[in-house]
Amino acid sequence: MGAEALDIGWGCGVPIARRLAPRYRVTGMEISDVQIERACALVPSAPFIHVDMAMVAFAENMFGAVVALYSMIHRPRAKQRPLFERIYSWLMPGGLFLATLGAEAHAGIEEGWLGSEATMYGSHADAGMYRQRPGGLGFEPIEQAFVPEGDGGQTRVLVPKPR
Ligand SMILES: C[S@@+](CC[C@H](N)C(=O)[O-])C[C@H]1O[C@@H](n2cnc3c(N)ncnc32)[C@H](O)[C@@H]1O
Repeated sequence: MGAEALDIGWGCGVPIARRLAPRYRVTGMEISDVQIERACALVPSAPFIHVDMAMVAFAENMFGAVVALYSMIHRPRAKQRPLFERIYSWLMPGGLFLATLGAEAHAGIEEGWLGSEATMYGSHADAGMYRQRPGGLGFEPIEQAFVPEGDGGQTRVLVPKPR
């Protein structure tokens, strides 16, 4: 079995945790009761933590990979930077952080999110800002891609922790 991996805001556990679980010791982190219930059925082998990502703490250098797809962008942007720093402390040197962040700066509530009846809060910088210090991620991604979503999109980054 490979390294420890953490999926922040793992949703229903599919696709990320389900794909990682056969090869890595993946732990899901999720705030929603409903998503936890779905993930327990879909990825029964993976342990999970039912918690707000803002409140959680792990040991340093613990994870080989941390994934946060479409999850950190639901937290206010000003509170993302401290979380990035904590994620970096949890990653082992050479470990990878895979995240979906903003492409265009945005903060606020969106009615009829992605054509549904849901109202969604989102907050993120534009792609360039995330790479800058202070305020941004401040690390150089080894991969960066625009991911279309509705009328806009997100930026997916793969960032290594320096060895
Ligand atoms: C848009 S979904 C993405 C789910 C999954 N990562 C994916 O890519 O399919 C965002 C998830 O983040 C979770 N989430 C939002 N805020 C959170 C928080 N503060 N702590 C933990 N999970 C959170 C939501 O409940 C939701 O399941």
